[in-house]
Amino acid sequence: MLIKKTDPLAVINASAVIRKGGVVAFPTDTVYGLGADVFNSNAVAKIFELKKRPSFDPLIVHIASINDLSKLALNITKEVYLLAEKFWPGPLTIVLPKKNDVPEIVTAGLQTVAIRMPAHPTALKLISLSGTPIAAPSANKFGCISPTTAEHVIKQLSDIDFVLDGGSTKIGIESTIILLNDDKIRILRHGAITAMDLSETLPDMKVSENSDVSVLSPGMANAHYSPDKPMFIIGDLIPKDFKKENAGILSFSGKYTKGYKVVEYLTKNQDLKEYASNMFSALHRLEDADIKFIVAEPVPAVGIGLAIMDRLRKAANKYSTYVAPINNTEEL
Ligand code: TXA
Ligand code: MG
Repeated sequence: MLIKKTDPLAVINASAVIRKGGVVAFPTDTVYGLGADVFNSNAVAKIFELKKRPSFDPLIVHIASINDLSKLALNITKEVYLLAEKFWPGPLTIVLPKKNDVPEIVTAGLQTVAIRMPAHPTALKLISLSGTPIAAPSANKFGCISPTTAEHVIKQLSDIDFVLDGGSTKIGIESTIILLNDDKIRILRHGAITAMDLSETLPDMKVSENSDVSVLSPGMANAHYSPDKPMFIIGDLIPKDFKKENAGILSFSGKYTKGYKVVEYLTKNQDLKEYASNMFSALHRLEDADIKFIVAEPVPAVGIGLAIMDRLRKAANKYSTYVAPINNTEEL
């Protein structure tokens, strides 16, 4: 395994790896991605193997220019171009009808393809030098905590050929995913681009959150982003053996931290964007800390707070069967 800084030579070398059918981890504006040439099915298969990702979970395709949209998608409407011009490069993924050229392995057999242009100079350079759009999920083992640094990538995926190290990612939470039909925009996954941002750009379209995203977006399992120890959100039922001196807390307000062995203050002034950019790093630290439990204080579910709460709920979901039949919230 090879780590390189994101100097121009490293990006050139990484693009050679992609062109030869290899896999490269690279920074984006949201989280690190694990990329391969979208048109090379064997290369894309390596991503699924490395991540232990089930084949029913489709990948997002990353492009470096709006012109690349037509290499991948059909029926690119005026609304799609308006959104692309407004939010790209940036943390918005648009699901569109796919062209036949896009291999089935990328879209997990769906007739649609998810596309985004990341706002990160290294990612954009890697895509253009590779001469092909890059299919890339987040660079973590399936279901585990997402990576916001090169070190997080290596912690989970020690077998990869190449990691481009661009330091910490800025946004820290995955892109908003949307599906457009007729006069509706459905948000399949919350992210930094909010329903209000979308409505401002396309005021004539209804923006809704799909009630059953798992049908339209097969990878949206309820347990996801999970640390390797039980995690709870304040207000959840907790196990009888829970003790604060064995636990770490992700703090939003700075309150409720008394008695915990480890406290992660994610933001000084209750700034949700700052919280989002620090959240996965703090979860990685708590995963590695000498504690038995992780607790998160809920954040206001507004703006990017919706995306934060979605990630926290899913991170905590894996242990929902673990709860004792008593409500110990007083103790938290
Ligand atoms: O910010 C991000 O989006 C990051 C960076 C690396 O770009 N990528 C990312 O990829 O979060 P991943 O694989 O962890 O999550 C992508 C999700 C999949 O789980 C799947 O549910 C959804 O995107 N998806 C992909 N293609 C889709 C499609 N054609 N229709 C509906 N959902 C799709
Ligand atoms: Mg992911």
